[in-house]
Amino acid sequence: MLVHTIEEVREQIKKWKKEGLTVGLVPTMGALHAGHKSLIVKSVEKCDRTVVSVFVNPIQFCPGEDLDKYPRTLEEDYKLCEAAGVDVVFAPSPKEMYGEGHILSNDFLTYVIPPYFYVNKLCGKSRVGHFDGVCTVVNKLFNIVQPDYAFFGQKDAQQLVIIRKMVKDLNIPVEVVPCPIVREESGLALSSRNKYLSGEEKEYALALSKILFNIKSCYSRGIVDTGALAETAYAYLNEHHSLEYLEFLDADTLEEKQTADDNTRVFIAVKIGTVRLIDNILLSDK
Ligand code: PAJ
Repeated sequence: MLVHTIEEVREQIKKWKKEGLTVGLVPTMGALHAGHKSLIVKSVEKCDRTVVSVFVNPIQFCPGEDLDKYPRTLEEDYKLCEAAGVDVVFAPSPKEMYGEGHILSNDFLTYVIPPYFYVNKLCGKSRVGHFDGVCTVVNKLFNIVQPDYAFFGQKDAQQLVIIRKMVKDLNIPVEVVPCPIVREESGLALSSRNKYLSGEEKEYALALSKILFNIKSCYSRGIVDTGALAETAYAYLNEHHSLEYLEFLDADTLEEKQTADDNTRVFIAVKIGTVRLIDNILLSDK
């Protein structure tokens, strides 16, 4: 079922809760691909009912980012969800989520602000306010759907850590289920933003996963100094890449690591032309 209003979702949820059914939520911004699908499949397997939200959330885009050109493919998204056994696709308008005139500044809207320590690094450094927008919308979706389980991808590992922190700090009664990164055979992590890449740029984009896989292989051969591990990246970068960050952080706390260990996650962001891509790897990942 495709629904556009909060009221319709609430009605449906009420019925399910009365029947004692468990509900899974998969929040997305649409343009669904196999990465999203893996979250959906997990929810359908684990929960009696699954809701997928499709909402390009304006308040998590910074000025000058790709809000207007972000791919919107609701018809295909709905088909994918239906085929995967999703019960409700919730695709609200910005007005439905944020009200008349949708005045999105924090002078007018109540925001959920994640802690500075978690935000002042990786994507949060260049995308100021991004995680405020993410936490606010995810909190709203949790309140609307009241899921027992919510599914998030490790592709956005900083987002996942921040959402878990929000759930813990605000005592939100939901279990966050982390899901592994789905990659193309080439190694490239699937992303809705891959659609922006030309054929040539897609080749350059392989540098991200190559750098991460190589660092993991160096680590498994005994190199633990993160400075030395970071140095190995340069062999894969050329004038087509603009490296935004390559960081070694604890996977749970996002504390910086000088010496790598099994719980170290390596995070990378690279701009190729105008397209900004991110990827990461846990050094003990299989
Ligand atoms: P979006 O980028 O559409 O991603 C929705 C979910 O799919 C996120 O949890 C993301 O980590 C996961 N995902 C994306 N690509 C993946 C891949 N290759 N493998 C595994 N999981 C993948 O993340 C957002 O939307 C938004 O910030 C949102 C949480 C919906 C709030 O607006």
